Amino acid sequence: MKKILSAKNISKLYTSPIKVQVLSDISLDVHQGETVAITGKSGEGKSTLLHILGTLEKATAGTLEICEKEPTSKNVSYLRNSSIGFIFQSFNLLENYTVLENVLMPAKIGRLDTSPKSPAYLRAYELIEEVGLSERANFPAKLLSGGEKQRAAIARAFCNDPEIIFADEPSGNLDHAHSCIIHALLLGSAKKRNKALIIVTHDKELATLCDTTYHLMDGKLQ
Ligand SMILES: Nc1ncnc2c1ncn2[C@@H]1O[C@H](COP(=O)(O)OP(=O)(O)OP(=O)(O)O)[C@@H](O)[C@H]1O
Ligand SMILES: [Mg+2]
Repeated sequence: MKKILSAKNISKLYTSPIKVQVLSDISLDVHQGETVAITGKSGEGKSTLLHILGTLEKATAGTLEICEKEPTSKNVSYLRNSSIGFIFQSFNLLENYTVLENVLMPAKIGRLDTSPKSPAYLRAYELIEEVGLSERANFPAKLLSGGEKQRAAIARAFCNDPEIIFADEPSGNLDHAHSCIIHALLLGSAKKRNKALIIVTHDKELATLCDTTYHLMDGKLQ
């Protein structure tokens, strides 16, 4: 199976305001279509690890390859936009933009054609339908409920057809019933497209649904 992500000996040391060794010597590989859960106590460094693997933050030491490419200052924006999708706990939607505009944002950033009938536009509509928001496509994000916002964020994460999706506690703000819906959507959308997915979660039920589970403790993955 194709290797999508390869991280070797990743460490992260924060030096200001105080020295905090958050991650030490973490290595992991993630393959095409694999779903990975990362669990761990609050403050153990789960978000830090996800941000490093997703090229949003730099490790103090170690190497990272995504789709066989090492992120460099030259290629990182393109790599992030074309190969990586993100879903955050706090949604991070543009509140004054509609669901459709939010979902199309990665395509716009990648300077793809987003006019009606363009492949990106058709894919955005398909994704909006898949997450059950067809009737909200032209709603501004600020009018959506929390669960609906997260569904829009899932559709946005898949918009550029990335090889790997990172989700940081995607259902952290939702009640149990809505969390289950979000998890099912996310896992279903990833499996359907054979995409790799890394989810940080407190939810043990969700972790057991993933192909691989890691526990982050004392800066190490177990
Ligand atoms: N810029 C920084 N400088 C110093 N320490 C930091 C910095 N950012 C984060 N930390 C520390 O790194 C540790 C890991 O933070 P991180 O947000 O990755 O934890 P987490 O496992 O995602 O926690 P939670 O489950 O609460 O979201 C924490 O102790 C935090 O205080
Ligand atoms: Mg976190």
